[in-house]
Parts: sequence; C-alpha cells; structure tokens
Amino acid sequence: MGDNMDVSKKVVIVTGAGKGIGKAIALEFGKRGSFVIVAEIDSICGQEVCDEIIQNGGTAHFIETDVSSEQSIKDMITQTVQLYGKIDTLVNNAGITIFKPILECSVEDWDLVMNTDLKSVFLASKYAAIEMIKNNAGSIINIASNHVHATLTDSEMYAAAKSGVIGFTKGLALSLGHQGIRVNAVCPGFMDTYHYRNWRSQFEDQDFIQQEVDSLHATNRMGDPQEVANICIFLASGLANQMTGSSITLDGGLSTRLYHSKYA
Ligand SMILES: NC(=O)c1ccc[n+]([C@@H]2O[C@H](COP(=O)([O-])OP(=O)(O)OC[C@H]3O[C@@H](n4cnc5c(N)ncnc54)[C@H](O)[C@@H]3O)[C@@H](O)[C@H]2O)c1
Repeated sequence: MGDNMDVSKKVVIVTGAGKGIGKAIALEFGKRGSFVIVAEIDSICGQEVCDEIIQNGGTAHFIETDVSSEQSIKDMITQTVQLYGKIDTLVNNAGITIFKPILECSVEDWDLVMNTDLKSVFLASKYAAIEMIKNNAGSIINIASNHVHATLTDSEMYAAAKSGVIGFTKGLALSLGHQGIRVNAVCPGFMDTYHYRNWRSQFEDQDFIQQEVDSLHATNRMGDPQEVANICIFLASGLANQMTGSSITLDGGLSTRLYHSKYA
C-alpha cells in the first residue's frame, strides 16, 4: 500500500500541457521527478514547457498530439512506450470552450467541443489503459469542470461535454478497477488561464466581471492552476490508492452556494 506522495520515476502523460492548467500539472510532476510527456497540439508552447522541465532538472519529452484524433493519440502512446516502456499516469487535461448562444451553434461547433473535450478522454484512456493493464497499475485523471454542477448561459456544449467526462470517469473506474487502474476527475472552477480570459473577454467591463467572479467564491478569489496540479499529484500517488470513480471539486466553494447575494 502506498503511503506517500512519491511520483518520482512515474511515466506521466499530460495532454494540453503547453499552457494554463496542463502546464502547471506538467511542471509539478517534472519537479517531483516524474518522466513527463507533454502531449500538446501547439508545438511552440509544448516544446517550451518541456524545456522548462528539463531546465528545472527534470525529465520530459514533447510529443505533438491532437487529442481529437485517434491516430494522433495512438502515435503518442506508442512513442511514450518506446521511450519509457510503460505508462503510469494519464492526465486528460486538453480542452476547449466555445461560448456561444445555442441557437447560433452549428454541428461543427458541437463536434469540435465534443471531440476535444470528451472523445479525447475516451481515446486517450483506452490506448493508455491497454499499456497500464500490462503492469496491473495506473491512474487516469480527467480534468472536468465545475460546469458539471451548475453552468452559465451560452455554455451548453461545454457543460454537456464535461458532464460526459464525469459519467465516463465513473464507468471506466468500474471497468478497469480489477486491473489495478484508478480513474478520477478534478472539477476546477474559475482559474486564471487563457481559457478563462477568453470567457471574460466577451464582457465590456472586464474589471467588474473580475471583482464579481472573485466575490462569488467563499475564498474570495479565483483558483490557481498550481492548485489543480497539487490534486493531480495526490491522485497519481499511493496516498490515493483507494480512490477511484471520484470527482474532486476545486472551486473555492463557488458551486456550493445556493443563492448569490451580498447578504447570504
Ligand atoms: N481555466 C479554467 O477556468 C478552467 C476551469 C475548469 C476547467 N478547465 C479545464 O481545464 C483544462 C485546461 O484548461 P486551461 O484553462 O488550462 O486551457 P488553456 O486554453 O489555457 O490550455 C489548453 C491547452 O490545451 C491545448 N489543446 C487545445 N486543443 C488541443 C488538442 N486538440 N490536442 C492537444 N492539445 C490541445 C492548447 O493548445 C493549450 O495549450 C480544460 O479541459 C478546461 O476545460 C479550465
């Protein structure tokens, strides 16, 4: 039974690790001695993150990956196994949003969100699990969102995709549990990343929105990508050996609140 947070020498794939939350996750595993695969569609930021891990004394490889493509995921998994001979942890982090009135959304919009945020989780988990089963061990961590608890206008496609991730997490945890693979999800709230700024940019008074967003949290502030990274370390480590099929919400109490008022 694991009794510590040690993730050194674990082979860890982080999708969408070139920016934001994925970058924080990849850097943290790198600092803790994991062998990190930066699986990212954007080769410039993907390579930069990989270089930063190596500069910090860690080990990392960048593999250009489009998580919405089955072939690209298969190639990434094959290259990972060629490099390290195994996969211990997969963090399905890559995701996009299209915030748009639903009556203006096209099938192409729907497919793009579903393929990037949900189909990707199925595909990467499937091909990583084929390798994990060989060692009877593995941890799959899916980055969902607090949009699975409560959502906003013009966010239907995103909320649907992330809710699908939670259902998939539960089923996969049951299907793969007997083969030593744990599957969990993290549901972050507002995090200061490109993804968040893209959402905020639709509003004219961005300072007002920022103050309002901060004040909606019990902690009176947005989250930091580093805080998601910390949870991923825990979920990948022996400390979480009995944890599977679970979702951890990390949103400073935002989705706990029943009624938004300055008096309550
Ligand atoms: N930022 C938030 O407030 C927030 C809140 C809740 C959940 N999330 C989730 O966290 C995850 C990361 O979000 P973020 O804010 O860091 O996003 P981000 O946009 O800052 O970074 C996402 C990264 O994924 C990469 N990417 C996009 N499409 C890809 C593809 N097809 N294949 C491989 N890589 C791809 C991008 O190039 C980018 O580097 C997403 O799944 C998002 O839904 C974010």
